[in-house]
Amino acid sequence: MTFRVNMAASLATAALIAFTGAATAEPNIDPNPDVTELVINGDIPITIRAPAPDHLDGALPEIYSGWLYRDASTRQMETDDFENPAMTFVDEGLAAWDAVDGSEGKSCADCHGDIAEGMAGVRAVMPKVNEAGALWSMEDYINDCRVNRMGAEPYEWDKSPMKNMTAAISAQSRGMPVNVAIDGPAAEFWERGKEMYYTRFGNLQLSCASCHQENNNNFIRGDHLSQGQTNGFPVYRLKQSALVSIHNRFYGCVRDTQAESFAKGGQEFRELELYVASRGNGLSVEGPSVRP
Ligand code: HEC
Ligand code: HEC
Repeated sequence: MTFRVNMAASLATAALIAFTGAATAEPNIDPNPDVTELVINGDIPITIRAPAPDHLDGALPEIYSGWLYRDASTRQMETDDFENPAMTFVDEGLAAWDAVDGSEGKSCADCHGDIAEGMAGVRAVMPKVNEAGALWSMEDYINDCRVNRMGAEPYEWDKSPMKNMTAAISAQSRGMPVNVAIDGPAAEFWERGKEMYYTRFGNLQLSCASCHQENNNNFIRGDHLSQGQTNGFPVYRLKQSALVSIHNRFYGCVRDTQAESFAKGGQEFRELELYVASRGNGLSVEGPSVRP
């Protein structure tokens, strides 16, 4: 069976790209009702289904972790840190946490203490507005500390040292509910992120919503389309044998619409990141997760 993009202006698009549903797949129903729970290491229960946050206003009946859409062997890898390939990168991040770097002779641990205490809950509320009123992702906070508090070089947004660190920090919040703020000073950024989410890009004229909302649970070129949640980031992608950052994933998704993509670490993607994170408010932080 082939589903067209479920939107008015979709005829041209449908000619260029086919969304297909497996016999049982229909958009916006539970992708895998038989799978009832994810518990990591036998002691970190993960919320893989949650009521949609109010601001989604019925656009999705329920929210689902991307984990639920993956095949059994990929799902299995995430249940045990010895099987999760991301964990070697977490170890590298933990080593960097304790390592002195920069002209001030300091490590992250010197100021923040044990990462398990100092960073618990941090991933769950990122991105967020800083004291100066700017919207910052976790990467921005890390580099602010490196440059302005340690006298060290900033990490490159999408390179290993940064991804190892975001993975190590995310792991300290596993099981905690995603809870990004969307009101107050965050509201203007959130509104712009939302607008971007529903904007059609590229020759294919597809928005994030075309794939991850309207065609969630359908298939595109063999990929089972999830809701495009960010609670599992950074993710370890088996295809790339590497950690992938949130902005790297956004970059690829925009590029796949045959559009020029936006800069990783740029303002547009920070705003989009806030909006997408808010669509997952209520799911557990799951990163670093495993994806195909
Ligand atoms: C000289 C002390 C110092 C060092 C060294 C330092 N930080 Fe920070 N960091 C701070 C302060 C102060 C803040 C802002 C207040 C806060 O949230 O604790 C902060 C904030 C953060 C935040 C945001 C936390 C939040 O809840 O908003 C992250 C993430 C972070 N630091 C990561 C790191 C990492 C990773 C390193 C090592 C590469 C590091 N920091 C090194 C002092 C330091
Ligand atoms: C042409 C369809 C398409 C469009 C448009 C698209 N994506 Fe994706 N996206 C995919 C596919 C395919 C995957 C991999 C399977 C999955 O998790 O859905 C994916 C994965 C993701 C993931 C990873 C989810 C996880 O659990 O690992 C995120 C996050 C994401 N997309 C966000 C976005 C955002 C934000 C936009 C808009 C800028 C967007 N996507 C536009 C097809 C698309």
